[in-house]
Amino acid sequence: MKYQMFHWLCLLSLSLSLPLLFWFGHVMTRAGLSLGLRRGGLGGYLRISPAGVDQLLHMHCSQCALVSSSGQMLAAGVGEEIDKVGCVIRMNNAPTQGYEKDVGSRTSVRVVSHTSVPLLVKNERYYFQQSADTTYVFWGPERNMRQDGKGHVFNALWKIAEKYPKVQIYAVTTEKMQYCDGLFQNETGKNRMKTGAFLSTGFFTMILAIDLCDSIRVYGMIDDNHCSRANHSAVPYHYYERNRVDECRMYRFHEHTQRGGHRFITEKAIYAKWATRHKMEFKHPSWSL
Ligand SMILES: *[C@@H]1O[C@H](CO)[C@@H](O)[C@H](O)[C@H]1NC(C)=O
Ligand SMILES: *[C@@H]1O[C@H](CO)[C@@H](O)[C@H](O)[C@H]1NC(C)=O
Repeated sequence: MKYQMFHWLCLLSLSLSLPLLFWFGHVMTRAGLSLGLRRGGLGGYLRISPAGVDQLLHMHCSQCALVSSSGQMLAAGVGEEIDKVGCVIRMNNAPTQGYEKDVGSRTSVRVVSHTSVPLLVKNERYYFQQSADTTYVFWGPERNMRQDGKGHVFNALWKIAEKYPKVQIYAVTTEKMQYCDGLFQNETGKNRMKTGAFLSTGFFTMILAIDLCDSIRVYGMIDDNHCSRANHSAVPYHYYERNRVDECRMYRFHEHTQRGGHRFITEKAIYAKWATRHKMEFKHPSWSL
């Protein structure tokens, strides 16, 4: 598709005359592909837009509220507090309607797993028309996100971008995905893939928030010891799925499963480490280091 075309043209330009090379340099700079030049944008996130390729996410927030999808948010009563924060970051299809008192109503950024794309498409008028001022950041493995026509999630996102050209739709780049694996490996000493685990949407969201925000208030995220305390509160895994499995049961299952699990508890321990180096506060439940 477009991207491949660029690549091919760039190679061609190297073998052609100098003026042409300059012209391509100009086009590439406009497209944000200039070699290492990052003018006021965030690398690692690729805009999906029929209007052109943009390798930078143009956004910055002084303060962010990262709202977890955890059942901890039920009866949290922090909706007003969240809505006052500059940028509100949510995950996947976590709803606000009907939960405003607890989770707030604004959504500046939504970080979405490749597996949740159908859930958004099913309700596309809400997500891409009514919430057109939300920036969407999608993550997924390369087999689903590849841009050569064989990545079925990328293709679905391309269709959405064509239908709703104003909506800011980004994909986490393959390089950034690898970087995230590297972070996991550095923090845990374990190879993410070899342990049979996938990083969670929470992990990518935390990394985006660190990239994007000067300070972060994390709502509804438990600490890594929470589930081992005898008196821990029992809440649903997601605040919007009542009668579903208990959060700690889900976390324990994922922590130990051999294939395809999310290491939610390990990831929480990593966030606690990062919180010593970044301005990060944990609320409801409140915990500190
Ligand atoms: C992981 O650690 C190695 C060695 O210290 C370092 O070179 C690399 O940049 C780190 N990776 C990430 C993603 O932080
Ligand atoms: C649970 O017990 C610990 C002490 O073991 C205590 O500090 C904490 O406040 C208790 N939490 C709740 C929710 O009762």
